[in-house]
Amino acid sequence: MLRVAVLGAGRIGKIHAANVAADRRLKLVVVADPYKEGVEALAAQLGCDSSVDCAAAIDREDVDAVIIGTPTDTHIDLTLRAVRLGKPVLCEKPIDLDIERALAAVEEIERHHGTVMLAFNRRFDPDAMRVKQAIEDGEVGDVRQIVITSRDPGLAPTEYLRHSGGIFRDMTIHDFDTARWLLGEEPVEVMAMGNRLVDPALEALGDYDSVMVLLRTASGKQCHINGSRQAVYGFDQRLEVFGSKGMLLNDNHRPTTLRRWTSGATDAREPLLNFFLERHADSYKVELDRFVTALEGKTPMPATPRDGIRALRIANCAFEAAETGRCVKI
Ligand SMILES: NC(=O)c1ccc[n+]([C@@H]2O[C@H](COP(=O)([O-])OP(=O)(O)OC[C@H]3O[C@@H](n4cnc5c(N)ncnc54)[C@H](O)[C@@H]3O)[C@@H](O)[C@H]2O)c1
Repeated sequence: MLRVAVLGAGRIGKIHAANVAADRRLKLVVVADPYKEGVEALAAQLGCDSSVDCAAAIDREDVDAVIIGTPTDTHIDLTLRAVRLGKPVLCEKPIDLDIERALAAVEEIERHHGTVMLAFNRRFDPDAMRVKQAIEDGEVGDVRQIVITSRDPGLAPTEYLRHSGGIFRDMTIHDFDTARWLLGEEPVEVMAMGNRLVDPALEALGDYDSVMVLLRTASGKQCHINGSRQAVYGFDQRLEVFGSKGMLLNDNHRPTTLRRWTSGATDAREPLLNFFLERHADSYKVELDRFVTALEGKTPMPATPRDGIRALRIANCAFEAAETGRCVKI
């Protein structure tokens, strides 16, 4: 049984901790977070130890593997601490906000032959996995264009946004990874627009809430990403893959398939699942399963720190493109 520490007891930490506790191959040993009340409540709920010291949780002799769901600016230090002790890590995205720091960390991870998976969970969404499989099976022939719609239901708290690194590195980074993964080629140039249509106060953070991005690969494949921090109708996550032999379309999820016809509405369906916690619940389980399966089989991790660097580089270039209005080489 693999004994696991989960670091972070916030939104994503709670998901990872619950998934570890529910997995028969794993034992949730400890959850750690400096917010004492929150971490104690989570530990009591899941029947494990709690700690306010993430470093001490990593160091515990009865911890074999570490899952990191703490704020972004802590990812590298915590990952390296675990790697130096020879412990495998599943680390949340983004790897860091500073590309040079992230590169140095990846080099150190590789020097230690560290086993680290980056938590790009959208790759493990069952719908997205089916899209990827269909592409690999040649169902749409040569992929020519991809359209990704990625809209959150509402702005995250200001304190979260302040440390998030901005929409491209915090939110659109998922879509940059998805684009690379589905295109099967690295984007080499990016054009982007960013605006504050939801909350003009984001200007003080140097951030945007509404973005449109165009990516192009060396062979000319194109990807369009449209992202917003606010969609009043719920979490809007769609994928369209257009190729020489057809198109794949991956639509949104609803709680049930119920449809209603009344005097006031025709073919009305239930609202979309509201947020990532619900819409991507399965993806976090599959992600954890792939992490453990790779550890058991000693196979490569399905998303690596190098993937984290590539997505971060695209995010930085997209920000530059939005700021300058220029097409930026990646
Ligand atoms: N893959 C996904 O779908 C997904 C979704 C949400 C967040 N994330 C990522 O997960 C990370 C956490 O995001 P969140 O939404 O859970 O944030 P959150 O604010 O809900 O939770 C963060 C937790 O970290 C704790 N914390 C604060 N400072 C800390 C420190 N110095 N060391 C350790 N812990 C500290 C806080 O007490 C809090 O409980 C971010 O990097 C974010 O990008 C990923």
